[in-house]
Amino acid sequence: MKSIELAAPVRLRAPAKVNLGLEVVARRPDGYHEVVTILQSVSLFDTIDLLPAPALRYTPPAGLERESDLLWRAVRLAEERFGVRLRAQIRLEKHIPLAAGLGGGSSDAGTLLGALAVLAGIPLDEVERAAAALGSDVPFFVRGGTALATGTGTDLAPLSTPPNVWFVVVAPDLVIPAKTAALYGALTPDHFTDGVATRRLAAALERGDTLDPDLMHNTFTPVLREWDAVSRAIDALHAAGAQVVLPSGAGPSVFTVVPAQAVANAIADRLPAGIGRVYVCTTVARDSNASALQAAVG
Ligand code: C5P
Repeated sequence: MKSIELAAPVRLRAPAKVNLGLEVVARRPDGYHEVVTILQSVSLFDTIDLLPAPALRYTPPAGLERESDLLWRAVRLAEERFGVRLRAQIRLEKHIPLAAGLGGGSSDAGTLLGALAVLAGIPLDEVERAAAALGSDVPFFVRGGTALATGTGTDLAPLSTPPNVWFVVVAPDLVIPAKTAALYGALTPDHFTDGVATRRLAAALERGDTLDPDLMHNTFTPVLREWDAVSRAIDALHAAGAQVVLPSGAGPSVFTVVPAQAVANAIADRLPAGIGRVYVCTTVARDSNASALQAAVG
């Protein structure tokens, strides 16, 4: 067992994500689905404080069961798969809404695994592969940034982060039980597409082009429209001036993307009350916790 001791406290920022496109391509025999999606870290953060302590200590935030808490499962995965034990008190502060399609729990887990990899000197791609055991979005959050994700969402290819991109995200107050499984379960082969639009969007990002709204699709849009709260949020964003509105992941959060903060703020200001929590945010680069970790190892 390799023990990690901290020279100083570390504050990690665990970003939310949006999917700049998400096409479900096929259902596999094991029940999982093949996807082509572009994941983008955004500046809405949970914070994970690691405080030097004689032994590992973690108390989950109120309302989160320790055993279903992905952050705690990440700590255990690091021990079991990599023999890494953190001697620290872990404090998690939640800001990303739960089960909203914004990847909050996955980010807490992936961000911590990325940090443990850096602190223990484990190759990040090994940790990314192991992270898939915790959920399809967890490998992405080991490094974050912008990435094309294929397979079940765990095969990652980093992309250039589009410059000057701002988001208005609306998270409706809606709880869909077993949301991700339910939304995938509601898809029929008629919903499936070939992933070409999202791959073309990825190629355009690699060339440094701006986001083309005509290439931005999310397979879950028609299914999510069945929920009034989601339809209201989509319609409200359009009425406030948004051109393209997409769900993030399997929803229920929806977002628009614009080229400047002032445009995002103006759209957010025009949204009616009562449609859910509204966030204005921008892109976050890959390995965004690197300097915080550098300071901790001295
Ligand atoms: O991997 P994650 O825990 O996010 O997946 C939750 C559920 O969503 C899975 O149990 C599965 O039913 C569905 N899913 C899927 N295909 C994917 C990802 C998730 O069918 N690529």
